Amino acid sequence: MNRFTGKIVLITGGTSGMGLATAHRLVAEGAHVIVTSRTRARVDSAVHQLGPNASGIVADAADLGAVDALMETVRDRHGQLDSLFANAGTGTFLPFQNITEPDFDHGIDVNFKGVFFTVQKALPLLADGGSIVINASWTLHRGNSVLTLYSATKAAVHNLARTLAAALGCWWTDGYGGADGSCRWLPNGQALPVLGQELLGALLHDGQHSGVPAHQW
Ligand SMILES: NC(=O)c1ccc[n+]([C@@H]2O[C@H](COP(=O)([O-])OP(=O)(O)OC[C@H]3O[C@@H](n4cnc5c(N)ncnc54)[C@H](OP(=O)(O)O)[C@@H]3O)[C@@H](O)[C@H]2O)c1
Repeated sequence: MNRFTGKIVLITGGTSGMGLATAHRLVAEGAHVIVTSRTRARVDSAVHQLGPNASGIVADAADLGAVDALMETVRDRHGQLDSLFANAGTGTFLPFQNITEPDFDHGIDVNFKGVFFTVQKALPLLADGGSIVINASWTLHRGNSVLTLYSATKAAVHNLARTLAAALGCWWTDGYGGADGSCRWLPNGQALPVLGQELLGALLHDGQHSGVPAHQW
């Protein structure tokens, strides 16, 4: 299928794991995909793998100046965005007692502040009927001794998605991507069959995925 033909999709953290796997699938379905990460070599490698319908921009999601520059570049090159996959994330998996202030700041800066402002700064570029997908994690629902910081950041962006649905008057769908626990990351794009149609449906905003109107929250 070519459901994404002509669509421009921005994937933060699109140089490995779920982001890259999603990029492969969207390119196969006709999209032009823009992938980001902090590392030039990884961005170049991802774009090389993805082919001519992909481009890459180096941007640290935790650096608001870099996020501004990213959106300016997207605007200059493409004019607008059809979908944003706010996927870039990081994890510090340590016992609660061992988490340091730098660990805390880094986790919050990438997983919460980065997602918050990536969405905010992408909004003016988003086309009518466009979609925003935030990659949270199944861990937001679970207790685990080494996931205190990580899970809290994911709970924050999960709530952000719900409240944004109300604030922006859009639809909210839960349970795609990592948020439902069904996603298992495998290298080289193999995650896609597991990511399944819900993530793609959410990105496409095609009404075929289950969802509830924002006013119900
Ligand atoms: N793996 C899982 O089991 C799992 C489960 C549920 C949810 N998740 C979430 O899904 C997302 C992707 O996870 P993954 O396992 O696929 O990750 P991954 O393979 O480690 O890839 C992470 C991507 O994000 C980029 N990145 C990291 N920090 C960044 C930053 N500050 N700014 C911009 N890009 C950054 C990385 O590139 P650079 O390092 O070059 O910047 C890379 O492209 C994350 O939000 C993660 O928390 C993962």
